[in-house]
Amino acid sequence: MANRRSVIAGNWKMFKTVNEAEDYAVKFLEEVKDVTDLDIVLCAPFTALNPLKNELEESVVHLGAQNMSWADQGAYTGEISAQMLLDVACTYVILGHSERREMFGEKDEEINKKVQKALATGLTPILCVGENLNVREEGKAAERVSSQVVQALSSISKEDLSRIVIAYEPIWAIGTGKTASSKDAQDMCATIRATLNGLMGLGAEQVPILYGGSVKAENIAELLTEPDIDGALVGGASLDPISFAKLVHNA
Ligand code: G3P
Repeated sequence: MANRRSVIAGNWKMFKTVNEAEDYAVKFLEEVKDVTDLDIVLCAPFTALNPLKNELEESVVHLGAQNMSWADQGAYTGEISAQMLLDVACTYVILGHSERREMFGEKDEEINKKVQKALATGLTPILCVGENLNVREEGKAAERVSSQVVQALSSISKEDLSRIVIAYEPIWAIGTGKTASSKDAQDMCATIRATLNGLMGLGAEQVPILYGGSVKAENIAELLTEPDIDGALVGGASLDPISFAKLVHNA
């Protein structure tokens, strides 16, 4: 099996004040301080990033954001630039999450511009792709997800493609408690890997592909037995530091 980085990322979404984030970090770091065999990432709300920069400094835990603008800077009210994320020691950024696609109308072209800007700035994009239940029931999940990958990674060099992380998140499994079966998750991650192979050749073997959608400490180990699943993007189960640390240890 390819020697790929394993990544366990927590996506806090719109939860945690600064005080809650600082308290979380102290408890979480105590539990995971000796973990060296995988990359642990906390993707926090923008307001908590600078406080977490200080808490996580020189620790094994990486800091990530949940979105960013494709623009360098300028009159973009409410937006945050990649440089601003670097400024608070972010190394990862989630892009194209289904909640941003579904609720805020993000389209593949815009996501592609964001992926390009993240890579150009030195951030590692965690590119989210996934189908809704209707698409799956129509038997078009692989087609949809493959298209999302191709469009989001358009005009990106093979060298830069080797720096990305992809998260397969079936929309019907997010926040529902209905985790995809390991087989279904593996099939879709294998589809993503094949799509990447078409874009970048054998380098696709080195790209971590994560699964997201109701991942818990109780099911992470089984998911990671699948050959094309290299980690997880975790929502609800990342909100408690002790529970998320247990998930990390089970990975
Ligand atoms: O980005 C991860 C998230 O969408 C998954 O959420 O709560 O199903 O783990 P959850």
